[in-house]
Amino acid sequence: MRNEEFLQQFNKRLESLIKTTNKVEQAMNYSLLSSGKRIRPLLIKTACEDMMVDADLIWHPALAIELFHTASLIHDDLPQIDDSPLRRGRPSCHVVYGNDFAILAGDGLMLKSFEVLSQSPADPRVKTLLLTHFSRATYEVLIGEALDVEYTGKSQKLSEILKMYSKKTGGLFSFCTASGAILSERFQLIEKFTKLGSVLGIWFQVVDDLKDALSDEKAAGKTVGRDKMLGKPTVVSIFGVHKAKDFADKLLEGVLNRFDEYGMNKTVDFLKSLAV
Ligand code: IPE
Ligand code: IPE
Ligand code: MG
Ligand code: MG
Ligand code: MG
Repeated sequence: MRNEEFLQQFNKRLESLIKTTNKVEQAMNYSLLSSGKRIRPLLIKTACEDMMVDADLIWHPALAIELFHTASLIHDDLPQIDDSPLRRGRPSCHVVYGNDFAILAGDGLMLKSFEVLSQSPADPRVKTLLLTHFSRATYEVLIGEALDVEYTGKSQKLSEILKMYSKKTGGLFSFCTASGAILSERFQLIEKFTKLGSVLGIWFQVVDDLKDALSDEKAAGKTVGRDKMLGKPTVVSIFGVHKAKDFADKLLEGVLNRFDEYGMNKTVDFLKSLAV
């Protein structure tokens, strides 16, 4: 399936997940059905196609990851964390629904992500593995985001910052890249792909930090300049923009080479399209 066609069907499925019978579900859908790039679902799709996974097994992990990711953004934007009033081209969830409902909407999307994944039609042994890896990945996001908060306003060693990135962003990327190996039952590849996904997450976070430093809000669709304002130790704050860009390029090149060796052509093409 072409990525554009996948995205169309994906967004339709996303729309039908949560019935808006009350305010918290309205807040959940407000953030979920906005203009996210859907990078993680697409990464699951390409990784699964490269591993010849049945098309009907791809939807549940792809939906679950987008639910959890959106939740993490709602919480990340709260005044107590990054205090970011703009997200995905419109006011952040807490600006529209209040901090109380934004906290609950984030919780709701996280809980829903597990429900959706548990409805996967995969074989029970495979489904258990999916749930195990998803639980681990989402817990990593929590730890990474907590380290981000802990480090704010303090200087940190590069190695600590990279460890934080590998969790807060690498957690979900690891699940995406590992999902192809899990669903195709090529279990010996799971650990390798989990590690590659975590490096990919570090790359993605450095690129995001560069956007925060260089982009304007209209182009980014979200609040920018926050990392510096909040005193976050980042790869950009340590290296400066030029060295950080070189660092990111090298990370991506290394990961692409490894995926190339495994014949992950669709994944490689998709990641290359993100890098331009
Ligand atoms: C933003 O992720 C948060 C980070 C981990 C850097 P995306 O850039 O994928 O955000 P959306 O989903 O397109 O809004
Ligand atoms: C955090 O990174 C992403 C999460 C894991 C929630 P950022 O705080 O840099 O993400 P943006 O820039 O707000 O999208
Ligand atoms: Mg943050
Ligand atoms: Mg943020
Ligand atoms: Mg950022």
